[in-house]
Amino acid sequence: MARFYITTPIFYVNDAPHVGHAYCTVNADAMARWHRLNGDETKFLTGTDEHGQKVAEAAEKNGLEPLAWADQTSKRFRDAWDALDISYDDFIRTTEPRHYETVQKFLTKVYENGYIYKDVYRGLYCVSCEDYYTEESADAGKCPIHAKPLTEMEEENWFFKLSAFEDKLREYYDAHPDFVTPHTKRNEAYSFIKGGLKDISITRTSIKWGIPVPWDDQHVFYVWYDALINYLTAIGYGREDDEVEKWWPHSHHLIGKEIIRFHCVWWPAMCMAAGLEPVSHVQVHGWLLVGGQKLSKTMAAEGSVRLADIAPVQLTTEFGVDPIRYYLLRETSLGNDGDFSHEGITARYNTDLANNLGNLVARVAAVVTSKCEGVAPSPYVNSTLRESAAEAVRTAAEGWNRFSPQAGLEATWGLIGETNAYLENHAPWKMEPGEEVEIVLGDALEAIRIVAVLIAPAMPSVAQEIWNRIGLSGQVTDELFAERTKWGQFRGGHRIEKGQPLFPRMAD
Ligand code: ME8
Ligand code: MG
Repeated sequence: MARFYITTPIFYVNDAPHVGHAYCTVNADAMARWHRLNGDETKFLTGTDEHGQKVAEAAEKNGLEPLAWADQTSKRFRDAWDALDISYDDFIRTTEPRHYETVQKFLTKVYENGYIYKDVYRGLYCVSCEDYYTEESADAGKCPIHAKPLTEMEEENWFFKLSAFEDKLREYYDAHPDFVTPHTKRNEAYSFIKGGLKDISITRTSIKWGIPVPWDDQHVFYVWYDALINYLTAIGYGREDDEVEKWWPHSHHLIGKEIIRFHCVWWPAMCMAAGLEPVSHVQVHGWLLVGGQKLSKTMAAEGSVRLADIAPVQLTTEFGVDPIRYYLLRETSLGNDGDFSHEGITARYNTDLANNLGNLVARVAAVVTSKCEGVAPSPYVNSTLRESAAEAVRTAAEGWNRFSPQAGLEATWGLIGETNAYLENHAPWKMEPGEEVEIVLGDALEAIRIVAVLIAPAMPSVAQEIWNRIGLSGQVTDELFAERTKWGQFRGGHRIEKGQPLFPRMAD
């Protein structure tokens, strides 16, 4: 049986979640749902990154101990994911005992394998990034991402011999051309490696908020070093419930483009150093932008966006859960940046959801009521829509399979458009009741049934609602995608209710 293990980055709990985080998590969720719908044994992991200086400082500012602060903020992420109907199988917190155990086992292994040594670290550091900079990579002494002054650091630290993996990483990249997608991002990661790798400081004595180094109690691990290992914690690395062999060869990390170096250079090297194969695939996504800038909590703090306008829970209240999911999946293809705006959501909502999908379902139900006494007819075996549906199913599946929910949805909306055009062409509302009307409506109902299956990974509630409205029983996902999308399964003969509009139009 095929397996699919998908992860999101674990989110820092320095502040509340925003729609940029939701973008990543909704895409991962849709991918997990897609694979479940195909019968793959699926594991979907998300969680929160709770150590490090940035979180410790946020806690202090709020007058709480780091763990108490992390408890509160981690819950806000879980609440946001509940509101967005995120079907994670596991939510990891890096403050959990299971994570301490795995991190210590993993890094002890790396230590024993001879890839960790002690030295003095001198350099520049950005707390917001939790990342180091050199004079060259800094922007005149400031962080190139946060534009804040960098801190000078000097500490005796434990170092990871990243430099020892330059050749091995290049060989790995050459042997696995699809290790990182899209390929523009793969090339970016590859050029980091070709540019030469320096060893990295992986522990701290200056802060206490971290996982203790097992062989040196003066030190805690640097937050990124513990964070990356979360992907192995969740599959039991080094513990009794070890399922690494089962899941690791089927692992996919979905990450934002600013953390490529950690996931595509450091992390595979760390795995190699521990004697493990690297993660099998990293899918990179771009940023949601506001006014050309990465949407962030800082923006809200500075007043360039309202916090309520970017808070996932508020967005679901304002637009509905599935419409927000649809927008985040459809608007921008994974890898590119995209503009985020309420106007953009409203436009997608009114065009794709209200006018195209909602209207299709509504007009078919209306004509079934007026011309067929409310009783659904069955589809015609050789309908011209049959080929359109088959084509949409093929193209959508191909899109989903290459990590493109956007392409999957585009193909689905192609079928919705063709079904609407089919209705326009035949205008069953102008026909006398009889066989001809029944054929047209039966075909349209079958196309709608297939559309419900196609949208299920993206809009699970709407998919089920449509399934129920056209009078079908059970769950839309009760059978596998390949079975469910075969033409001719809609039997008809039952009543169809008109119901309320699925997507009442919104004011522009
Ligand atoms: O980086 N658009 O956490 P984080 C799209 N803890 N994605 C966005 C975004 C935006 N405007 N803003 C943030 C960390 N993200 C680490 C990860 S993993 C072992 C440790 C995405 O809370 C961002 O790209 O800063 C990243 O992938 C994710 O949110 C977590 O960001
Ligand atoms: Mg960040």
